[in-house]
Amino acid sequence: MRIGILTSGGDCAGLNAVIRAIGLYCYKNIQNLEIVGVPDGYGGLIRGDSLRMTEHDFSDILDRGGTVLGTSRQPFKRMTVEENGESRLEKMCENYKKLGLDCLFTLGGAGTHKTAALLSFEGCNVIGLPKTIDNDIYGTDVTFGFQTAVEVVTDSIDRIKTTVASHRRTMLVEIMGNKAGWLTLNSGIAAGADMIIIPEIPFNIDAVCDFISGSRKDKPYNIIAVAEGATLDSEAAFKKSERIFVRTDMGETTVTRHLAEIIGERTGTETRYTVLGYLQRGGTPCAYDRLLCTRLGSFAAHLAKEGRFGVTAAAVGGEITFNALSDIAGKYKLVDPKGATVRSAKDIGISFGIK
Ligand code: F6P
Repeated sequence: MRIGILTSGGDCAGLNAVIRAIGLYCYKNIQNLEIVGVPDGYGGLIRGDSLRMTEHDFSDILDRGGTVLGTSRQPFKRMTVEENGESRLEKMCENYKKLGLDCLFTLGGAGTHKTAALLSFEGCNVIGLPKTIDNDIYGTDVTFGFQTAVEVVTDSIDRIKTTVASHRRTMLVEIMGNKAGWLTLNSGIAAGADMIIIPEIPFNIDAVCDFISGSRKDKPYNIIAVAEGATLDSEAAFKKSERIFVRTDMGETTVTRHLAEIIGERTGTETRYTVLGYLQRGGTPCAYDRLLCTRLGSFAAHLAKEGRFGVTAAAVGGEITFNALSDIAGKYKLVDPKGATVRSAKDIGISFGIK
């Protein structure tokens, strides 16, 4: 059996732990095996690149951040567009055959899964694995890399809090997540933020400022956890490019700086903002992720051994299972504004910036 592995989209902690689990399972349980790594995600498959991986390549990478295979973003919408007489999808299918693959593991987020579903539809034997700090892949309770990012963000806010409290400031902490606010929600609660602003709950400026002014009676400083995809309520129905509050052509891709300015002016509190950025994706996976990655990776490899393709591994109710790629591709798992986590945060007085 000849197996390929690729990692695609934004990296996160745990990719190498999954690669290791797949490799070790295969080398211990499958006869006549060859494993190749496809470098740089779908980019490598489009070019037809591969590198042979021996059992030795899978040892000692459990706790290493990033991905030993490299990654790249290959926009889904360009996959079927013809370029010089051939689409990227066609090139990938051709190279899948040229590489003699019997199975390809695709470790990635929502976009990666959409392309994986296309490849599967075209007859390639694909098995997905749910990666992303955004935790927004449909059909799995949790994605790998998410919990590590929650720990990193929580620790960062804990550190920021001591300086904010010393200066009695209001601090906005911008956290990754364009469509989904899971990382902002979970780490905001874990770090004791006063307010959490996520894409799924568009904020109201008056409500944000009133809350900050009101809370100053009880507390001399404030922490606001803001997702990078946070949106003003009056603009939530507009396309991103049409929103005036944040416009790419004005050099702004998120609301954070603008919102900090308004809060400062309207509440009279000294206000600052911090963009946590890529440190959220870096570093070694936490123990929870190492365990999750090992379970997902070995399970996915078992699926390959059994000849079960066109699926993606998932964690549901504490068990590892799988979903058909065709059932989950193109869907997102977003925060439910009426769900239990948001409710419990509201119950203890955390504001979501709404009236
Ligand atoms: O991988 C997910 C993510 O980290 C998002 O939270 C963030 O919006 C995006 O990637 C950043 O993408 P890039 O690495 O292309 O700048």
